[in-house]
Amino acid sequence: MNSPAAGVSMTERLFAVVPAAGGGSRIGAAVPKQYLDLGGEPMLHRSVDALLAEPRIATIVVVLAPDDPRRPPAGRFDARVHWLPEGGATRAESVRAGLDALAAGDSDWVLVHDAARPGLSAKALARLIDTVRDDPVGGLLALPVADTLKLADSDDRVCSTLPREALWAAQTPQMFRAGVLRQALAGDLTGVTDEASGVERLGLAPRLVRGEPPNFKVTLADDLELARVLFSHGGN
Ligand code: CTP
Ligand code: MG
Repeated sequence: MNSPAAGVSMTERLFAVVPAAGGGSRIGAAVPKQYLDLGGEPMLHRSVDALLAEPRIATIVVVLAPDDPRRPPAGRFDARVHWLPEGGATRAESVRAGLDALAAGDSDWVLVHDAARPGLSAKALARLIDTVRDDPVGGLLALPVADTLKLADSDDRVCSTLPREALWAAQTPQMFRAGVLRQALAGDLTGVTDEASGVERLGLAPRLVRGEPPNFKVTLADDLELARVLFSHGGN
């Protein structure tokens, strides 16, 4: 077993950014989805707790919308967690704001984790860190696609069946060195829906690390129901 001290080397620190400035339009709830209740705690708290379970993470910056007045009760989180009300119009802009707020050197590592993925386990997070810390590029949790894939026409009729052999569905956290991430998130962010896609634009090939199904992103009402089931069965 790795002790915390035996983890990411002392010269490279490990930071985290949690983009939590979205409005949750697809779920259509009365509050942004990261504040919906999961077994007695807002989803955002669950996602931050999942990162806090990893002692190698030095600092977590949670990026909130500028007009979001919500803050956790004093003492709910330890001193590693900081709240930054500087989210942008897109997820990538929010991540960039979080990155800018970190005092990270170019070779320090940054984990970016969606506030809307409360089901991340300590095991998957450790697997990502342990696999990527010696990687020249960085990487992300992802799952090989298991379902047969259909290409649809505009009437929801099948045009064809697509080969799925080389396809993975990206999750978060995504882990890159701060210097690479700053370059990846510089300039026009059109089409940059995750950090890896920005890194790919630099001509680099991020490493895929096996994620896990419970680390799905809560996007639609059905996802919320499933997340509530998970957290009603001791998922905390
Ligand atoms: N996010 C963010 N800033 C934005 C948009 C999204 O920080 N301008 C965050 C969300 O809060 C979420 C994560 O990025 O934790 C993933 O985004 P998504 O699932 O798309 O969340 P929303 O944008 O809130 O949802 P929707 O797209 O349905 O409106
Ligand atoms: Mg969105």
